[in-house]
Amino acid sequence: MTRIIVVGSANMDLVVQTPHIPGPGETVLGRNFVMALGGKGANQAVGAARLGADVVFVARVGQDTFGDQCLDGYRDEGITVDYVFRDPDAATGVGMIAVADDGENSITVASGANMRLTPQDVETARGAFAGADVLLLQLEVPLETVLAAALVAREQGLRVVLNPAPAQEIPDEILAAVDVITPNRVEAAGLMGISDTEVQALSDENLAKGVLGLGPSEAVITLGAQGALVAGSWGWTRVAAFPVTPVDTTAAGDAFNAGLAVALARGTMALDQAARYASACGALAATKLGAQPSLPAAAAVVRLLGEE
Ligand code: RIB
Repeated sequence: MTRIIVVGSANMDLVVQTPHIPGPGETVLGRNFVMALGGKGANQAVGAARLGADVVFVARVGQDTFGDQCLDGYRDEGITVDYVFRDPDAATGVGMIAVADDGENSITVASGANMRLTPQDVETARGAFAGADVLLLQLEVPLETVLAAALVAREQGLRVVLNPAPAQEIPDEILAAVDVITPNRVEAAGLMGISDTEVQALSDENLAKGVLGLGPSEAVITLGAQGALVAGSWGWTRVAAFPVTPVDTTAAGDAFNAGLAVALARGTMALDQAARYASACGALAATKLGAQPSLPAAAAVVRLLGEE
């Protein structure tokens, strides 16, 4: 069985569906409210588990009700939670999410315990890395912890996949320890330290070149409805998106990254084929409300791929 380690964030998402995303100073009368498990790390862990991987999740939640609910949810998915630490001094992370009728969202995160996940926590989980195939990382926990995890993974021969979300500039040492990086255009701009205006002037290919110049061996630039651009020292290729009518794009990127990690961990697909599989996962996640409730199971992905 393929084994994936995810080191990252765990949140409870508080979601309101609304006609449009409120602007600064605006109050919008939304519709229904739902609470669902979220957090980029947890979403990617659950996404990978639903696709059939054996998943170990390294994270930090509070000693509160949301923390209990997170742990129950991960256990129900068959995820190993031995390294989901309980923090007595911080609350479980919360995502405040507005989802508009066109499926777009805006997310504000109160990180809480996520920002207290330490390199020492990774060290405690070191034994779980042995024999695993892929380490999957995002940027909702401290960067020193991301680096510590990438270095342990490197030492133990795992492939390191970094989803550099939310957008930010990150140290070269992390980028040098990454095998596959998966930014969207905004996140690519963040990594390169250039403005949104500057990034608009760059073609997808030149953006990929810029990202690869920072250190990772390969890059998958995600382009929403335009699919993805997959690039490495071998050149680049485009992967088409699966057209769907979006209900809520929250966690579509997480489903994509989970799919990519699982496909790579299986070791049977080239990066562009893995990105196509990932793209099917992301498309399916966009058709349902909520982060973890929307993550597809392997059978649904195979069905969508078979319909092509
Ligand atoms: O990627 C979506 C996730 O971002 C949400 O679940 C929210 O909690 C934030 O972490």
